[in-house]
Amino acid sequence: MKRDLVSIRDLAREEIEAFFVLATDLKQRLKQNKAHPLLLGKTLALVFEKPSLRTRVTFEVAMTQLGGHAIYLAPQDIRLGARETVEDGARNLSRWVDGIVARTFDHALLELLAQYATVPVINGLTDLLHPCQVLGDLFTLQEKRGRLNGLRVAFIGDGNNVCNSWLYGAAKMGIHLIVACPPGYEPHRDVFTKARAEAEATQARLEVISDPVQAVKGADVVYTDVWTSMGHEEQRARRMRDFQGFQVNQALVASAQKDVLVMHCLPAHRGEEITDEVMDGPYSIILDQAENRLHVQKAILVTLLETSEPPAGETWLRRLTRSRGG
Ligand code: CP
Ligand code: NVA
Repeated sequence: MKRDLVSIRDLAREEIEAFFVLATDLKQRLKQNKAHPLLLGKTLALVFEKPSLRTRVTFEVAMTQLGGHAIYLAPQDIRLGARETVEDGARNLSRWVDGIVARTFDHALLELLAQYATVPVINGLTDLLHPCQVLGDLFTLQEKRGRLNGLRVAFIGDGNNVCNSWLYGAAKMGIHLIVACPPGYEPHRDVFTKARAEAEATQARLEVISDPVQAVKGADVVYTDVWTSMGHEEQRARRMRDFQGFQVNQALVASAQKDVLVMHCLPAHRGEEITDEVMDGPYSIILDQAENRLHVQKAILVTLLETSEPPAGETWLRRLTRSRGG
């Protein structure tokens, strides 16, 4: 049975932890210059309706480092749902490639792609969710703090796709997530309800408030994202007004814990949701976050695309030996 990654909600906590163990191994191998061609001969299609730097590059580099290949299909290339139906696109791609990463506006389009593709489909961002981002973020925090359970994270700004995935991620991992956003920009209601239901079992705490200062008080982590996400550009002027007071600047960060970590999924609109001073300052782990997208996505790819054996450390060491003819 093929396995997709559409939402963090679909993952068990143990699966997330297994991704992190594998990502740590793969990161070490890379730093030690040890080859790890676990997806030799495999091909990944990247179907993108929106622009991307990090998601595109990290998935392409991931496939190169794993011995496979990635094909990038830009917004104008295949136009799923316009040039042909999503179902037909999914069925065709499945005859050639071993996995698909898709970045779409409409979340339902990605779900349809996953439904009709017979190969794994990975969500590379939709208007609703950005699970690979938040898995990379959680891995980064686990590296920095050695734990996730009980951390207090303040998400400041727009209740957007990244924020929605954070609600699911926090619920799974027992995090206290406080979202502060202006009225009218709260996270998706249905996502919040589902994440809250899950939080009851994990002792996570999820809150949505409208006071950024209150949210960052005592926070271990301050997280932000752009005020105007891709696809909302025509609302930019209104958003610039509505988000006044929600900037992550030195004054706001001063209300958090002394050793606070500042995170941003990027791309950043410097001087809007975050100042240069904070972004380039001593608390910022923003570039570590960006780097870790690579390591975590490699673990995701190995887990989903490597179907013949489970991705335990010994297994892929054996595989490496075999691929060298040993
Ligand atoms: N954070 C992130 O997904 O960046 P891109 O939009 O550049 O892929
Ligand atoms: N919320 C942002 C995230 C970009 C990675 C957007 O959707 O544009």
